[in-house]
Amino acid sequence: MALTTIDLSSPDLTKSASLIRQACLDSGFFYVINHGVSQELFDDLFHQSRKFFEFPLEEKMKVLRDQNFRGYTPLEDEKLDPSKQTKGDCKEGYYIGVEVAKDDPRATKRFFGSNVWPSEEILPGWRQIMEKYHQEALNVGRKVARLIALALNLNANFFDKPEILEDPIAILRLLHYVDEKSKPELGIYGAGAHSDFGLLTLLVTDEVSGLQICKNKDAQSQNWEDVNPLKGAFIVNIGDMLERWSNNIFRSTMHRVLLSGQERYSVAFFLEPGPDCLVECLPTCHSETNPPRHPPVKYGDYLAQRYKDTHGNATSSY
Ligand code: OGA
Ligand code: NI
Repeated sequence: MALTTIDLSSPDLTKSASLIRQACLDSGFFYVINHGVSQELFDDLFHQSRKFFEFPLEEKMKVLRDQNFRGYTPLEDEKLDPSKQTKGDCKEGYYIGVEVAKDDPRATKRFFGSNVWPSEEILPGWRQIMEKYHQEALNVGRKVARLIALALNLNANFFDKPEILEDPIAILRLLHYVDEKSKPELGIYGAGAHSDFGLLTLLVTDEVSGLQICKNKDAQSQNWEDVNPLKGAFIVNIGDMLERWSNNIFRSTMHRVLLSGQERYSVAFFLEPGPDCLVECLPTCHSETNPPRHPPVKYGDYLAQRYKDTHGNATSSY
């Protein structure tokens, strides 16, 4: 399907915001181009990701995810759609968040802390590439969030608050889908149907397609449409918090990955509010005749529950 393309270098913010609004009302997915992240960095990122996943399982298990959800998630660890899946997603992953040192006051907060890194001996320069990409993706995410704020008739900097995007939960996730053909009729998926949890997601994939979206998650029979990668562009989608903030004006879009038997690499960057952020209906999104549909929720609580619902053997102490 054809998605709207947002040119992040355009000086006409009003026009970009209106395009985003239309895209969010229509599908909740759009491409972002001219975002400033170089092709060279994307190439380095995928190269390093591939290098990690090529290691034997034994090596990868040394950096298994911790209770803070940082590090390696093995094949089938995650089951994004437990109602339909007969086994976990046919993918392995690696979570990298904001690096918060142990002596930083934020380190006591849920979902903040230090990352788990593969050793420099086996993957020299790996951490540097990941940190560089994390920083650049965060900058792009904040810019897109400003356009989203405008699209909801808020001040552009609405999300630039300490508890929202100044100290966000911002998770880079490397993904490697194995060469197993998906069989929806048997409950086998690359990634089960889900919506993302936070504010927005910036996705980049290799050339192998597989991503599908369902525009109307409430419909009786679901219609799935392919979203193809666009070289150099981010595929951006909005998450559950924006749905709650916007009082369902913008719905978080269901998506899944179906594999055709070819292995596939992708990198998702989840931009999410900080754990203490109370997500409640925005001032521009309710009225007397349209009251808030969702009770306020603290993002840390929401995220802990979603991780619990979708990850096997979660050792999370939250
Ligand atoms: C995700 C996701 C899609 C992809 O990680 O939440 O939807 O193409 N990934 O890997
Ligand atoms: Ni997703």
